Amino acid sequence: MYTDVHCHLLPGVDDGVESFKEAEAWLKRAREEKVARVIVTPHIRPDTYPNKPPELKRRFAELVERSRDSGVELSLGAEVYYRHDLAEAVARQEILALGAGGRYLLVELPLAVLPAGSEEVLYRLRLSGVEPLIAHPERYVFAQDEPMRLAELAREGTLFQITTHSVTGGFGGNIQRTAFRLLELGWVALIASDAHKLSKRPPMFREAVRVIANRYGKEAARRLAVENPRRLFNGERIEPVACRPRRWRLGGLSG
Ligand SMILES: [Fe+2]
Repeated sequence: MYTDVHCHLLPGVDDGVESFKEAEAWLKRAREEKVARVIVTPHIRPDTYPNKPPELKRRFAELVERSRDSGVELSLGAEVYYRHDLAEAVARQEILALGAGGRYLLVELPLAVLPAGSEEVLYRLRLSGVEPLIAHPERYVFAQDEPMRLAELAREGTLFQITTHSVTGGFGGNIQRTAFRLLELGWVALIASDAHKLSKRPPMFREAVRVIANRYGKEAARRLAVENPRRLFNGERIEPVACRPRRWRLGGLSG
């Protein structure tokens, strides 16, 4: 069973689903795709989505109440837009971390440029006891142009989440190639749907897992889609997954 650690399933708080009815339909579809656990991650971004934890928790309680029969276990987190005071914002409870015990923080970076000083900001976050998980690095223009711009963060142990839709090619060849490159660099810890609306971007776990298993083998797919997301949900330690193209591996063996 899969665990989805990034999706926009709280109605009316960001650009995700618009109603509880849509959220319930989304959960039904996720369950059909064998998704058993979901961390709901509304945007927290002062200029566009100035969501506050108390209101998010109130809506989340309503979502849990309404979707009791869905067969999906829910947890609340957030997708936090990068800011220089991430560690302090967690301590002040202005933003929500992910997983049991709030061990991880899902951080969205600006699309165009890696912010100066981000290594230091994420290092301080880690020192405060919270592990940064960077949302969809394959979608950032600076990472598409030069994936090694993320090397320093990866070296420090920052975790990366790739989006299922990127892996399946739904965002185009450039983003898909970048996703493969990051997987092959061995920096990616897990995949997640980052689903917004059921109509626009359904969960797609099955299809993404098929692509990853074809390319890197079933064990890599299992760790990226099943084991690591479940461990994150439970607040357990996770490690990035080394992905080697099967073509290359088999070619060397079979001649
Ligand atoms: Fe997102």
